Amino acid sequence: MPDTIVIKNGHIIDPSQCIDGIGDIFIEDGKIVRIEQKSGSPEAKKKKNNDFRSSELPNFQIIDASGLYVIPGLVDMHVHLREPGFEHKETIKTGTLAAVKGGITSVCCMPNTNPVNDNRTVTEFILRKAYDEGSCNVYPIGAITKGQKGEELAEMGMMREEGCVAFSDDGVPVANGILMRRALEYSKTFNVPIISHCEDVSLSEGGSMNEGALSTQLGLRGIPSASEDVMVARDIILAELTGGRLHIAHVSTEGSVRLIRQAKERGVNITAETCPHYFTITEDAVKGYNTNAKVNPPLRRQKDVEAVTEGLKDGTIDVIATDHAPHHRDEKLLEFDNAPSGISGFETALSLGIGLVNAGVLTMSKLIEKTTLHPAKILGIDKGTLKTGSDAEIAIVDMNKEFHVRSEKFVSKGRNTPFEGWKLKGMPVITICKGKVYDWRIDG
Ligand code: DOR
Repeated sequence: MPDTIVIKNGHIIDPSQCIDGIGDIFIEDGKIVRIEQKSGSPEAKKKKNNDFRSSELPNFQIIDASGLYVIPGLVDMHVHLREPGFEHKETIKTGTLAAVKGGITSVCCMPNTNPVNDNRTVTEFILRKAYDEGSCNVYPIGAITKGQKGEELAEMGMMREEGCVAFSDDGVPVANGILMRRALEYSKTFNVPIISHCEDVSLSEGGSMNEGALSTQLGLRGIPSASEDVMVARDIILAELTGGRLHIAHVSTEGSVRLIRQAKERGVNITAETCPHYFTITEDAVKGYNTNAKVNPPLRRQKDVEAVTEGLKDGTIDVIATDHAPHHRDEKLLEFDNAPSGISGFETALSLGIGLVNAGVLTMSKLIEKTTLHPAKILGIDKGTLKTGSDAEIAIVDMNKEFHVRSEKFVSKGRNTPFEGWKLKGMPVITICKGKVYDWRIDG
């Protein structure tokens, strides 16, 4: 990376500083040193535009961001990098580069690896690998229970010390109420959230798609919305009881949105996230037994999509995360019942989020808040900001650029997307992270 970079004339959005306007960002030695906002007369703007003497300085790069948005690199608080143990699906190297392609510069990786990240040795391994091979920041999430077996609390304190930013048994729910209660109490000591994968397995067991007329038609066992709603209700009650910090993962149902909204109104200490697939597509994507649309929780009905969208709009849902869950092609080629759940989300997430902006659901500023400031705040990490002194982690977005989703072009090893062939509008064209400028217009 050049010693000095100026990103000029972009529309800068940084909710952490309430910036939403045209300006220039100055970067020196990988740090943001100054933002100059251009207000005032056209003459003043013009003068500032002519203020650069780039060619006279060595190691100086100007990025002309006229007509583009310049935003903090996204913070994705729910991803699966699969390493250690499932390197045929994804590695820290491939996953973090795919994230950067999606404009994401910090990811929080779930512990359902092999071995499970339930102790400081695995946490240390992930962090070391990320340091050596990662293209973006990696923040591990430790398991709530040993081996994610739901029997005994893991060594949260030690994992926290090593660098875990939250705890979750994502992929499997914590079925035992007393364990969830203790986890919420214990994690208060470290002021980190418990991220709950809400699923009552006694209701969902054997199911592979949303329960309803379509699952009957397809002859597939369904997962009722109640499976999610019941656990959301339980965890809200436990959060109320303990005062612990609860974050609800991948909200997919109308019922969850309602419960979270009511809890927030009562002042319960909870936050929530959803993923692009839950506000973009319905269970119809499963038709034809499309395993690339098999995900857990499952894609739901139109009324759920609308409720999730409304939840994003009214602030009930704080965060958009990808739940990037790559699987090998051969695994997704299994019959629907036996194929693993998950969607590779890094390389389509921002564009699908922009879909909400184009549809008038969210302002660009709100979208960026839910993908930068909010997750960073929830996790207590100093990311998702363009503040002076912070690492230059930036995405430059072209709202007009259209592209077709072609999974064979994904940087991720995971090709499992239900959006194959979709034409999307708006995408990150440049990402700056860890001392590198990635220009995706050149690389395609
Ligand atoms: O669809 C999913 N895939 N949901 C999860 O909760 C886990 C994830 C995975 O690890 O593949």
